[in-house]
Amino acid sequence: MSRRLPAKHVLMVFLASLLAPAVAAAEPGDAARGRKIYEQAECTQCHGLSGRGDGPVGLSLEKIDKSPGDWSNPAEAFKLDTDKDGQTGTRHDLRNVIVRGALVFGGSQMMGPTPGLSDDDLDDLVAFIGSLAAN
Ligand code: HEC
Repeated sequence: MSRRLPAKHVLMVFLASLLAPAVAAAEPGDAARGRKIYEQAECTQCHGLSGRGDGPVGLSLEKIDKSPGDWSNPAEAFKLDTDKDGQTGTRHDLRNVIVRGALVFGGSQMMGPTPGLSDDDLDDLVAFIGSLAAN
């Protein structure tokens, strides 16, 4: 009996090590690719490369309309609950705002819709935006 315990223990550790990458993979998207799309789509004009709302247009927006927000602080930055699940800034919310713009969700018209992005593009963009959070 006691001889079998270590084997069980090894099995548990083995199973845990199998599960760990599965958990890590639950958030889809490639942040490095997302950054390229972000630059190509000129999100930087308003949001800045660091996502702090400090692009050339973003800085003047603060004075005339809503600020693009500071994504290094996601709890404060994301305001739109696009799917009305009681939470803002979820992966689904960010995707919705990027595709359809903020206006239809009660936000700023300056955050316009971005057509033509694939499902992967959206995952990658959201992964990039998530990577900007200060830990
Ligand atoms: C012309 C300026 C401008 C450009 C360009 C722009 N945005 Fe925005 N964005 C804004 C503003 C302003 C807000 C704040 C909206 C609000 O609070 O109503 C915003 C908000 C957001 C939000 C947060 C929504 C929330 O929940 O509060 C995301 C995500 C976002 N933008 C992604 C993008 C991406 C990705 C691009 C490029 C494809 C982009 N934006 C391009 C101005 C811009």
